[in-house]
Amino acid sequence: MSPGPENAPTSPSTSPPALTPARPGWWRDAVFYQVYIRSFADANGDGIGDLPGIRSRLSYLADLGVDGIWITPFYPSPMADGGYDVADYRDIEPRFGTLADADALVDDAHRLGIRVVIDLVPNHTSNEHRWFREALAAAPGSPQRARYLFRDGRGPDGASPPNNWLSVFGGVAWTRVPDGQWYLHLFAPEQPDLDWTNPEVHEEFTSVLRFWLDRGVDGFRIDVAHGLAKDPQLPDLPTEALNPEGTAAERWFAERGRHHPFWDRPEVHAIYREWRQELASYQDRAESPVARGAAEPMMVAEAWVPFPDQLSRYVRPDELAQAFNFDFLECPWDAGELRGSIDRSISATSSVGASTTWVLSNHDVQRHVTRYGGGRVGRRRAQAAALLMLALPGSAYLYQGEELGLEEVVDLPEEVLADPVWERSGHTDRGRDGCRVPVPWTTTGPSLGFGTGPGWLPQPPAWAAQSVAAQAGQEGSTLELYRAALRHRHAEPSLGGGTMRWHDSPSGGLVFSRGADLVIAVNLGDQPLALPAHRGIVLASGPLDPHGRLPVDTAVWLRTAG
Ligand code: GLC
Ligand code: CA
Repeated sequence: MSPGPENAPTSPSTSPPALTPARPGWWRDAVFYQVYIRSFADANGDGIGDLPGIRSRLSYLADLGVDGIWITPFYPSPMADGGYDVADYRDIEPRFGTLADADALVDDAHRLGIRVVIDLVPNHTSNEHRWFREALAAAPGSPQRARYLFRDGRGPDGASPPNNWLSVFGGVAWTRVPDGQWYLHLFAPEQPDLDWTNPEVHEEFTSVLRFWLDRGVDGFRIDVAHGLAKDPQLPDLPTEALNPEGTAAERWFAERGRHHPFWDRPEVHAIYREWRQELASYQDRAESPVARGAAEPMMVAEAWVPFPDQLSRYVRPDELAQAFNFDFLECPWDAGELRGSIDRSISATSSVGASTTWVLSNHDVQRHVTRYGGGRVGRRRAQAAALLMLALPGSAYLYQGEELGLEEVVDLPEEVLADPVWERSGHTDRGRDGCRVPVPWTTTGPSLGFGTGPGWLPQPPAWAAQSVAAQAGQEGSTLELYRAALRHRHAEPSLGGGTMRWHDSPSGGLVFSRGADLVIAVNLGDQPLALPAHRGIVLASGPLDPHGRLPVDTAVWLRTAG
């Protein structure tokens, strides 16, 4: 299917990619854009986003001004969990494209100065991975089973699961196989957990890292980075810590000075040290794309831990480069809470010499326009939050569609829900599909320019007015605000890395300076705020009031020196 003019792909590569040598630690102030591949752009009209679709939209991302993209899993997968169930770590899911498409995407991105981070899923494979098929075909106690966590059950016939752990997606975390043994899956039954005490598992993933580094990728997002190590005894969880919300179980353990049996165990760090060494040695090898001038590869952890100091252990100098800052993401729209989170985050990461990240949304959480109240209020706050986030020292992660101010789609018809959470929760939790609805690119068409046919999830009709085409060039649109913020961020030496200094501010206000000449003010209170002394406005998330004050739910970047 040939894309229309609006969807015209960037021209295919004819010469080797021009890789700009990267500064050491290039990621420390980079702005990354998360591409949830199924929902970004569909080049062949089958309703599912794909690699050629991403390729066709790279110029949009370059115009937006991002430094890198993180692409969610594109590997062959039965899609029990949207691709986070990987059947082969060295290939591409046919619905998403081919290895040649991936290579072309990396080349095109590099030519546009965009780094490419891919998703590594090391906690579990798909149940259709060759290893798991071999494990099922082999006997209990075999080396094939030892790559996973197979155990005998409890009770007279071993008919009860080996312990009381529950799956993150609901239900028991164990599934029984015909010969009577059980295997562990912290997520869906189609996602059996690997046994990271097995050296073969280590070798396999080191080899997978090399496979993708050889293809020129610039980094890896590490899925469930806090889950790889399990207490070898596989002990029952105390009832108090059995089925809590979010990270409450880990809090329960942390407050008692104990380690949770599967979250954030100290053993995971040896894995990241091993990978860091692999990346460093890779960089030294003359034939590697990295040594040819591409960026030094980075790794970013997805680790849901209750305290920022726990998170900082993942980014010690010999471990991963970054970790997503979920403490910040989980903050309500409240000046005191946000200030506390910003301070905690900066102090924890700087204690180990790492840069901080800032994240407001991703494919697993409710979109922040909705979290901040939804509708006009939510969107105003989200625009102010974007100026806050992009002015903070460190690196930022944007989630596709946040630059359009998209809201969570809360009313998807039940029959289209695809997140395993919906089934596993016995239809009590609708899951994460509401933040995964395909991106609207144009004001018309069966999927608003996402593809030539309907998308795998329906978009609200109101999204036509929020599409890229509707917002591009429109003053005051969320898209133009993000474009301007990223443009200024690149141009201003005071933004990106560096430090920040808080100023006194009335309650409900957040005021801080960056470098010698910028002050940022955010009004999270219920009264207009007098602007701090300044020489000019660099950027504002909305108009000032008639008295020149900063209205409620608005943020501004001010120039303070000439
Ligand atoms: C991570 C992913 C999420 C996935 C889970 C299991 O949390 O972000 O989407 O369901 O891991 O792989
Ligand atoms: Ca497609």
